Amino acid sequence: MVCTEKAFAKLNLSLDIVGRRSDGYHDMRMVMQSIDLADTVTVSQRAEPGVYLTADLPYLPRGGGNIAVKAASRFFEDTGIPVPGLSIDLQKRIPICAGMAGGSSDGAAVLRVLRRLYKPDLSRERLEEIGARVGSDVPYCVRGGTVLAEGRGERLTGLPEFPFCWLVVCKPACAVSTPELFRLVQVKRLRLHPKTDELLSALSAGDLEGVARRLYNVFEDVLPRKYSVVFEIKSRLLELGAMAASMTGSGPTVFGIFRSRETAQNAAGQMTALFPSTFLCVPVPASV
Ligand code: C5P
Repeated sequence: MVCTEKAFAKLNLSLDIVGRRSDGYHDMRMVMQSIDLADTVTVSQRAEPGVYLTADLPYLPRGGGNIAVKAASRFFEDTGIPVPGLSIDLQKRIPICAGMAGGSSDGAAVLRVLRRLYKPDLSRERLEEIGARVGSDVPYCVRGGTVLAEGRGERLTGLPEFPFCWLVVCKPACAVSTPELFRLVQVKRLRLHPKTDELLSALSAGDLEGVARRLYNVFEDVLPRKYSVVFEIKSRLLELGAMAASMTGSGPTVFGIFRSRETAQNAAGQMTALFPSTFLCVPVPASV
């Protein structure tokens, strides 16, 4: 038995931090969108019990430190199914430490595959709950598509599909530590917040222009100066014809929205010359 599943990257159309919680996490309000940049997760059975991971990137953690392995452990723990012999193989295309939930998406893909193989009657909500125990972005990644994520990231509301467009996604060479960036946030001191309700209305109306006008990520406000390349990429994408550009997650990846394929292709070509990790993408709908 071999089962293959796509693990799609996510972009934040908006990211707001609305409060600090007593458990050390933050309450969020984020509009998330899956894109067709994806890792491939392959799960196969093996004779020896336990979960064994392989990947095409040598420096990924292999044991319980890998979110894909952690997701498998949580799945069997929560469902009470004895751990079988499993191999998980990751073919990574989503850049790591990029703000695109690459690791969470791999974990979520593992959960979807394990449900299919071992517990097809498990509801999507239960699968998302298991995901929440794996990581804050995992419940969203289980579902994918266009979603409002609140709380730690586990309270999900499905939204109308994102209007068709082209997305140029550009990951500079640096990496940002998510916990480090959260530590820099003083919620009351944030000067600007995304107009999330207006963004939701624009999505309901299928108004791409309206969505583009409301992209905003509060992390941009606290980003240390050493990451100024983020703002350089934003400016370049706008110069190259993007309707709007924003950082995704805790960065440093920036994306621009384009209506025209030609403009997006040209922008992607020019950005690739400067930043080799540039991708021309389109939005994708929910996975489950
Ligand atoms: O849940 P996850 O392990 O992905 O979170 C990584 C880190 O990001 C947490 O340890 C915490 O510092 C921070 N975080 C947060 N509030 C959230 C999500 C993550 O403070 N809602």
